Amino acid sequence: MDKLLLRGNGPLRGELRISGAKNAALPCLAATLLAREPVHIRNIPHLRDITTTLELLGTLGARILVDSQLGIEVDPRPVHSVVAPYELVKTMRASILVLGPLLARHGSAEVSLPGGCAIGSRPVTVHLAGLQALGAEITVQEGFVKAQAARLRGTRVVMDVVSVTGTENLLMAATLAEGHTILENAAREPEVVDLARCLTAMGARISGAGTSVIEIEGVAELHGAEHSVLPDRIETGTYLVATAMAGGDVCLKRTDPGLLESVLLKLREAGAEVDAEPDHIRIRMARRPSAIDVRTAPYPAFPTDMQAQFMAMNCIASGSGVITETIFENRFMHVSELQRLGADINADGKTAVVRGVPRLHGAPVMATDLRASASLVLAGLVAEGETLIDRIYHLDRGYEVIEEKLSAIGADIHRVSSSRGAA
Ligand code: EPU
Repeated sequence: MDKLLLRGNGPLRGELRISGAKNAALPCLAATLLAREPVHIRNIPHLRDITTTLELLGTLGARILVDSQLGIEVDPRPVHSVVAPYELVKTMRASILVLGPLLARHGSAEVSLPGGCAIGSRPVTVHLAGLQALGAEITVQEGFVKAQAARLRGTRVVMDVVSVTGTENLLMAATLAEGHTILENAAREPEVVDLARCLTAMGARISGAGTSVIEIEGVAELHGAEHSVLPDRIETGTYLVATAMAGGDVCLKRTDPGLLESVLLKLREAGAEVDAEPDHIRIRMARRPSAIDVRTAPYPAFPTDMQAQFMAMNCIASGSGVITETIFENRFMHVSELQRLGADINADGKTAVVRGVPRLHGAPVMATDLRASASLVLAGLVAEGETLIDRIYHLDRGYEVIEEKLSAIGADIHRVSSSRGAA
């Protein structure tokens, strides 16, 4: 099993290219199942979750073609199965995203029920209740969600909680429903908007994506299309925080500052100089960051997927900051690992008080989930001595070539084989 070895070594300088967003690429790939013709998706990041999704689409029977620029064409015409097996779903919860498209396009779907995960219980009741409202018959048997409907019928759905993949599942399903659907209390995340753009290119009739009320006029069929996935705002934010912590001058290309205004605001509050241009962001940091308070909430508020990274920054900041996690009940798994590096954190329930220390000290640590792993990388960038991060398969799910990107801007970071870890 691979590990990452980091040695804290001063400021970061240079340019990086931001990849396409994992959390937009996943629903767009699932959406291809709705079409009657091949759909071409570009700017797909090269990540383990994408490979899992392609494997899932392949298991269902779709034909996948990867072009030289890592664009992916999915031909859904040969799909012959509507079963998403446990072996794949257990490795990636986002597999639930095929439920809506399979049901809407093929009249039935069987998707293994994702269990809880490292960051919380993560139920999918919003997905199921919404599909039921659209006329599906849903049962849970032997660990599978089994859904059936000859044709879904448009209706008004008020979602109980704001759910990103819940909104995406219902949005996809409603595109082929008979009549008009209104989704209320919808997630407003940019990835939902990107999915709506992809669906619209396929012939769907959608308005209101990006607001809390999305309206969909069902159509009889969707056709082939081309779509380019939007930039990854969490990858962008992670490299911005890296620079705020290590100091330096870094330009992130092919991103969009409009996707992460709440994050840029917090970085400025911490003392970073941030120049936001339409397709790139330059960050300069010449001093120790100031600790800041962060409270996670659905978009456009501060994202839960950036919480761990900002906690890492507070660890070496001047002053104290309060981090409040309101989305997931168990998203402080990085606290005890950061403490191993010398961080002063007092976590209780949803809240963690972080008192900045002048210096962290390298140690072996363990990655526990994707964003927690990112916080350990950031801490390792500035810790004195060596930090060895185990279980980095979590990172490979969501960060494209993180060690290459960070090395390119001057970080001392290497991927090592597990034998090194025994040292
Ligand atoms: N929730 C319910 N009932 C439901 C669905 C959700 O109570 O039926 C709760 C969840 O337990 C959680 C909150 O609602 O407390 C929000 O969960 P949501 O459904 O929005 O999360 P998700 O769709 O499963 C996506 C991202 C996550 C990101 C969250 C929140 C994808 C594939 N995943 O998950 O990304 O943290 O939204 O923004 O889009 C990551 O990339 O590291 C990641 C975990």
